[in-house]
Amino acid sequence: MNNIPHILIIDDEEGNLDVLKAFLSDFHVDTATSGMEGIEKFSSFKPDIILLDVMMPDMNGYMTCRKLREMEGSGNLKIIMVSAAAHINIRMMGYEAGADDYIVKPFDPDELKAKINVFTRMKSLEDRLLETNGELERMVKIRTEQLVESERLALIGRSTAGIVHNLNNPLSGILGYAEMILNEHSSEAKPKRLVELCHHMRDILRQIMLNSRKSEETETHCDIDITPILKQQISILRVGQVFNRKVNVKTDFGSTQTICGIGHHFAQAFGNIIRNAIEAMHESAVRELGIRTWDDGDYVTVEISDTGSGIKEQQLESIFDPFYTTKPASSNDGTPTGTGLGLASTKEIIESYGGTIRVKSTCGKGTHFTVRVPSKCRKPAAMV
Ligand SMILES: Nc1ncnc2c1ncn2[C@@H]1O[C@H](COP(=O)(O)OP(=O)(O)OP(=O)(O)O)[C@@H](O)[C@H]1O
Ligand SMILES: [Mg+2]
Repeated sequence: MNNIPHILIIDDEEGNLDVLKAFLSDFHVDTATSGMEGIEKFSSFKPDIILLDVMMPDMNGYMTCRKLREMEGSGNLKIIMVSAAAHINIRMMGYEAGADDYIVKPFDPDELKAKINVFTRMKSLEDRLLETNGELERMVKIRTEQLVESERLALIGRSTAGIVHNLNNPLSGILGYAEMILNEHSSEAKPKRLVELCHHMRDILRQIMLNSRKSEETETHCDIDITPILKQQISILRVGQVFNRKVNVKTDFGSTQTICGIGHHFAQAFGNIIRNAIEAMHESAVRELGIRTWDDGDYVTVEISDTGSGIKEQQLESIFDPFYTTKPASSNDGTPTGTGLGLASTKEIIESYGGTIRVKSTCGKGTHFTVRVPSKCRKPAAMV
């Protein structure tokens, strides 16, 4: 509500309107000479209070009142009926039609103003209550969505662990047979490729298993240096297939504070981002992987950039969703493959330490991931 209340006067007699307008010159006043006109003005003028004459041709005050109450946004509107008829039955009809008060003509202007002030205060309180209520409802909705989401992630974690467990045994068998065939035909390319693919599959399953593990709180250390973890991830990926094409790595490791947590969580989190960066440059003419670290107050910041394909704006929202991937499940020409769990688990790990992960990307140019982790000791929240 604005500071000066809006008052709409509905009365078919121009003389009455003029008198009331003169009384109420301290307020924002608009007038209507029929119930219909009043209803039309309700939406545009947005009155806080309506002074409504009862006896009007066409649509009388009771009917107008009922119609006003049916309109959206009229819940807190205060309607004061004005009439020369003072009989209790007539007044009751006004209340039944939805009026808040009734004033009998001729009235005392001071009493009318006093009533208006009371109703203005009341409406202002009700408006504030409605606003707070809306805010609370919004907060409850967001919290409920978060709970549903974390339950969904937990479920995904439990199901993937089960699926992976069931796939591991047959895969070991296939790998065993593939290695036997390779031993017997060591010069042939096909069994060699078969063994490679089995190893690749085993790596994927291990990765999924890692992603779905619970946090091991007992392993927490408070002296984790992020630089050797990042260096290790680069060297692991260097020997892997993804580095087959030449990637120029530029690092700038600042002297950062240590982090409190479980080492392999960070290895996994940053390994996922670095692997993605390399994979994104699969078809790029210029392949530059940049890794920079620095201290930012109580946070250790790691920026990982690439000159890869970039991410379309409409995809940015989805990349942290479990199982969201733009990569094929398998390939035989070296095209990177994916399960879509990398960034989901990275985000979960980083956020469980109270950290944040941000991404900026330009299609065709490349992507920057910025991860901030608090250096202060923090117990990781339970993870999927
Ligand atoms: N640096 C990047 N450049 C371009 N796209 C990226 C980058 N990082 C992530 N993406 C996009 O986000 C998607 C999700 O990444 P995420 O790591 O979760 O899964 P994935 O790499 O597809 O599979 P995996 O589970 O094997 O990691 C990718 O498929 C890719 O489309
Ligand atoms: Mg990935």
